[in-house]
Amino acid sequence: MKLADNKATLSFSNGSPSVEMPIYQGSIGPDVIDIRKLYAQTGMFTYDPGFLSTASCQSAITYIDGDKGELLYRGYPIEQLATQADYLDTCFLLLNGELPNEQERGDFHKLVINHTMVNEQMQFFLRGFRRDAHPMAVLTGLVGALSAFYHDSTDINNPEHRRIAAIRLIAKMPTLVAMAYKYGIGQPYMYPRNDLSYAGNFLRMMFGTPCEDYKVNPVLERALDRIFILHADHEQNASTSTVRLCGSSGTNPFAAIAAGVACLWGPSHGGANEACLNMLEEIQASGGVAKVGEFMNQVKDKNSGVKLMGFGHRVYKNYDPRAKLMQETCNEVLQELGLENDPLFKLAKELEKIALEDDYFVQRKLYPNVDFYSGIVQRAIGIPVSLFTGIFALARTVGWIAQLNEMLADPEYKIGRPRQLFTGSPRRDVPAGFKR
Ligand code: ACO
Repeated sequence: MKLADNKATLSFSNGSPSVEMPIYQGSIGPDVIDIRKLYAQTGMFTYDPGFLSTASCQSAITYIDGDKGELLYRGYPIEQLATQADYLDTCFLLLNGELPNEQERGDFHKLVINHTMVNEQMQFFLRGFRRDAHPMAVLTGLVGALSAFYHDSTDINNPEHRRIAAIRLIAKMPTLVAMAYKYGIGQPYMYPRNDLSYAGNFLRMMFGTPCEDYKVNPVLERALDRIFILHADHEQNASTSTVRLCGSSGTNPFAAIAAGVACLWGPSHGGANEACLNMLEEIQASGGVAKVGEFMNQVKDKNSGVKLMGFGHRVYKNYDPRAKLMQETCNEVLQELGLENDPLFKLAKELEKIALEDDYFVQRKLYPNVDFYSGIVQRAIGIPVSLFTGIFALARTVGWIAQLNEMLADPEYKIGRPRQLFTGSPRRDVPAGFKR
């Protein structure tokens, strides 16, 4: 970390001595004030629920400029990666810091594609679930269970174990997601095929059956690959911070990633794509575009508890660049499938148009996020709504593992242990008459 020339001084109105704190500069983005010695110097903690102003780590992986609406993976703009690279190139970049050269590209693709099969025993574990279980409940279990199957890559202090676990997770997630889907609909699992691309193989495992050959549609393959790229990493969001915190105890990588899957499930995070599509379907069922005004009034009424799902973001206070790319993909997929007049896509565009002109949204800088259009694309591809967040988890696995491995390699890493402002009862005695 680079020390800045200036320092921060914290002074107190009660005359307690002021304290000086160092400031560090990143390569871009806000500087940070180092408060690590604050407690030792003042006996006080800082208070920042929701981490509104707290950097929990240093990282060189992903950078977001929320005001500009810019997203960079290892310095490369998401728009360039989405059009010039594929998902596995992006995985290589996130894990290693650089785009692969020709040789590395071939080797990495082969490495991942050759590790897509899961231990045969995994399907018996899966059978313990009800067929109607939510895929995210199943995935949380399956990913955590990987640690019971791959004992030779669970030592997080061993860089070779970390490397093997990373490849296994990236390679096997599509297989697990597809297995969770097939189990739910009562169809046989499709084993992976090494001659297909990462996205093409996933499409076949999802929609193929043993009864006939499955032909991968290149437009849908590209669309899915783009969904994976756009969701690959997003710096210190809730699920990534969960993975880091969970991994900071020294637990194995599969357990830490399972914690990320569980966190992602929530509707304020990865579950937003599912919630967004359900919202669009509800508006459509109640009258469609004609009811948009009424719906917007509910959204603006704080007592209604209704939110415009797929809108707003903690970091982006401008258009989420992923939403633009997703809208493009939405057009391509709907055109390919002859669904140009899809009513939900029309409804989504109408909602976006109204929201972007409305004072409520303008003042709060609320723009569409990636999930506003991703659900429409996924639904058109044939992915059921309940699996949307599972697709997100599949794509984000590389980000989680890259961030976890970055933390473990950082000499400054410690077990995460937030403090608190205690507001409960001070010490008191159990009443003498209270006995078991
Ligand atoms: N609809 C209506 N109002 C909203 C929305 C929305 N989608 N999002 C934020 N607001 C309002 C809030 O009510 C708040 O209003 P106030 O200042 O009058 O109280 C203001 O905008 C600021 O919002 P906060 O909730 O304070 O912002 P925060 O950073 O805590 O939350 C979040 C961000 C959780 C993403 C929020 O915008 C939201 O719930 N959006 C809908 C869910 C969603 O799409 N999540 C996906 C995020 S992207 C991802 O995880 C892939």
